Amino acid sequence: MIEKIQSLQNEIKKIEIQNSEELESFRLQYLSRKGIINQLFEEFKQLPGLEKKEIGKPLNVLKQELETIFNQNKEKLEGSGESEELTKIDQSLPVSKNSPASIHPLKAVENKLIDIFYSLGFDFSDGPEIEDDHHNFSALNFEEDHPARDMQDTFFVGDYVLRTHTSSVQIREMENKKPPFRLIMPGRVYRNEAVSSRSNCFFHQIEGLYVDKGVTFADLKQTLYYFVQQFFGEGTEVRFRASYFPFTEPSAEMDIWIGTETEDTKRLSKGTGWLEVLGCGMVHPNVLKSCNVDPDVYTGYAFGIGMDRITMLKYGINDIRTLFQNDVRMLQQFQGL
Ligand code: DAH
Repeated sequence: MIEKIQSLQNEIKKIEIQNSEELESFRLQYLSRKGIINQLFEEFKQLPGLEKKEIGKPLNVLKQELETIFNQNKEKLEGSGESEELTKIDQSLPVSKNSPASIHPLKAVENKLIDIFYSLGFDFSDGPEIEDDHHNFSALNFEEDHPARDMQDTFFVGDYVLRTHTSSVQIREMENKKPPFRLIMPGRVYRNEAVSSRSNCFFHQIEGLYVDKGVTFADLKQTLYYFVQQFFGEGTEVRFRASYFPFTEPSAEMDIWIGTETEDTKRLSKGTGWLEVLGCGMVHPNVLKSCNVDPDVYTGYAFGIGMDRITMLKYGINDIRTLFQNDVRMLQQFQGL
């Protein structure tokens, strides 16, 4: 028996496997249930104890060598595309047309906004959704115990918060880099609000920031006006209302005129014809100071656009929750965006 093993060992040194058929006949010949190795093990079982001792090791070595040859050749053939699975694919079949991917309407709006602001020279940035108090509040001039913190119902995660707005990304950028800053920063934000067709406990904003020498409120207005014309169409009317945010002074909110002709526009504008789309203002000197930007040298503006609402307006979606249910029937309506 030992001779048999030795002659097999010589035999397999010469084996060359070129394709999957040869691999399969190798397996059948040596490694299958009725193959040589199993036959040898059957014979081995009949041997007297002493011979068993002598034969056991070389027989196991032979088996391992054969398995290695098999596995190495299998991997090689799979790598070269010559595997069984691959050769079984009928490449003449037509491509399935069933489920082309589509872009979520919110993402389509985000892409459009980024394009518009890129064309004005803005860069992209983003930041974490789990934030510390410093970036979400303190550095943005929310004083400890100031009632402004109640404007935003916060979800807490231990010592951290789920960011209540993308304004936190302003701080992350300004802390780490030197002015000028001209950035657009989209992302998801969270607030502990009752969920309804109009509001959700998470939604999306796109934050803008422009800090340089000599930036004025007129620059802010003109930039936002340009954005509205590009996004909602030429001739869309806007109005600014004075407002309050701790991180801007002066602060404003901007509405666009959507009219009251349809049920959708009536509901979205609460019957007034005006839809609030963003908050904005001149970056508060305290915010610049907290990021080591000298407010005597630099000024800047910032804005935060609510993306969900303008997505609903643009695509006639009347319940914010449908944006997040991942219902394929809803997503299919937006193929080709
Ligand atoms: N962070 C504000 C909010 O979530 C929106 C906002 C207002 C952002 C004014 C700004 C800004 O950058 O300047 O309600």
